Amino acid sequence: MKRTILALAILLWPVLQWAQQADFHVIPLPLSVQTDSTQTFTLTSGMGIGYDASQPEQGRIASWLRQFIEETSGVNLLLQPNNKKAAVYLSIKAGAKGKTAKAGGKGAAQAQVATTPADPRVEGSTPQQEAYTISISRRGITISAAAPVGLYRAAQTIRKALPLQAKGSAKVVLPTGSIQDQPRFVYRGMHFDCSRHYFDLPTVKRYIDQLALHGCNKLHWHITDDQGWRFEVKALPELAKKGSVRKCTVLGQNSGVYDNVSYGGYYTQAECREIVNYAAERYITVIPEIDLPGHMLAALSVYPNLGCTGGPYEVWPMWGVAEDVLCAGNPDVISFLKTVLGELCDVFPSKYIHIGGDESPRVRWEHCPKCQAKIKELGLQPVMGPNGKVRMSAEQQLQTYINHEMEAFLASRGRNLIGWDEILEGGLTPEATVMSWRGTEGGIAAARQHHHVIMTPNSHCYIDHYQLKDQRKQPLGIGGYLPVSKVYSFEPLPQELTAEEQAYILGPQCNLWTEYVAYPQHVFYMLLPRLDALSEVQWTPASQKDYASFCQRLPHMLSLYDRLGFNYCPTIE
Ligand code: ACM
Ligand code: ZN
Repeated sequence: MKRTILALAILLWPVLQWAQQADFHVIPLPLSVQTDSTQTFTLTSGMGIGYDASQPEQGRIASWLRQFIEETSGVNLLLQPNNKKAAVYLSIKAGAKGKTAKAGGKGAAQAQVATTPADPRVEGSTPQQEAYTISISRRGITISAAAPVGLYRAAQTIRKALPLQAKGSAKVVLPTGSIQDQPRFVYRGMHFDCSRHYFDLPTVKRYIDQLALHGCNKLHWHITDDQGWRFEVKALPELAKKGSVRKCTVLGQNSGVYDNVSYGGYYTQAECREIVNYAAERYITVIPEIDLPGHMLAALSVYPNLGCTGGPYEVWPMWGVAEDVLCAGNPDVISFLKTVLGELCDVFPSKYIHIGGDESPRVRWEHCPKCQAKIKELGLQPVMGPNGKVRMSAEQQLQTYINHEMEAFLASRGRNLIGWDEILEGGLTPEATVMSWRGTEGGIAAARQHHHVIMTPNSHCYIDHYQLKDQRKQPLGIGGYLPVSKVYSFEPLPQELTAEEQAYILGPQCNLWTEYVAYPQHVFYMLLPRLDALSEVQWTPASQKDYASFCQRLPHMLSLYDRLGFNYCPTIE
């Protein structure tokens, strides 16, 4: 019997070994994986990772790669600064190019909108800068890229490709061959609402870790809303101190019953900078959002004079869309916003600043003498449509007036604004980027007007929605049904647009609103694995996407989440 088992083990050894090989068909799927599992390279504990030590970024990336290899395969490598003969070598090849045109398929249009920023960590890298090649010969591994960000993306790919082995394993086997990769879209975002519920710094950092693992390069950080103002403004110390605290929270879905527990928390500017730096080291830009002129009850509760009625207002203990918004006719509102955005720009180096603009009812403005006087002063008249109906009300244009003020102010700080698609309603300001959330229609309209667009339609990108059909199997949520498969099916470039118009679509993003998500475990349950589906929408050319193949590659990611201690939804629909 023993002999039979031994014979079987010897017979199966190559298969067992093969099963334990690295597999570069990771998520998101790289552009090209050409490997030969019959010719292998064995990475052994004690081997080295070489890099150019004169480049601090390379040292950091080498150190992460060392950590990634150890946490997955168990193999412990040494950092070997400047050792070009090391088993693993990081190489920056100036002028190295990605495969933009052909490989990008429809996404090739992205190359037209990509720019070459001075600081890739702040303004976003081009697909060419994020491109990388991993070459594995029988002697070792060379990772090459045009910029450090490419090396970093490669390190994350290796992390996902290696088999999960026991801690302290002596070796790990890789197939020989070449992996070439670069992203489809320049903007690969993920949103996080930290207003409806406050999440501490370690949680925000772990959220960023997940974005980095999936090749995202933008964290859209929603830090103010009706239910809590969470950004410290030094010139207005009461704003975060008082505006971050609601005296209670409604139970269930606006049941009318409240928990009687005061809830608060905000981010100091030092903490925001810590988040910005943490993300920047992982090649992620933090785009902060101050939602205006609606979703402002928390601020109004501290400064009631900024509202049309004068209040009193309270930090909202329930969910929904409030009718009380900032008064567009009060000049103090513009000064207030400039103070807030000024400090926001001091803290967040992002080129983009999100000014919200969604769900801002204009009913108060219709009845407010100050707002109506402003409409008169600006000479705003309703614009009629061909059907005889009002196409653009004076109040809608009043919101655009605020946006103009914000755009000019942000331009004075070298920044551009992003707004939710409601900013189209009163006419776009010249430099606005539109975040299309009520479907893709807003994005289509904006692209036709030659404005940049981020696609985040609530049909495919709202991961606050349920992910399983059977709602009893999930924690209480806002509603909807967005399974992994539907996120995966999203195509960000609308067929209705010409190739030239499609070039204005910077990329897709998913949003995590947190009215019903109060704890970190729940955050990651909502995020994972729908982020996996999103990452392939963001990264992989449409022609290479394949849901069946994605589902085969997903279990390894779930095992990796187990290894890294992340919660996730284990059922895939
Ligand atoms: C939004 O979901 N209100 C942008
Ligand atoms: Zn008003």
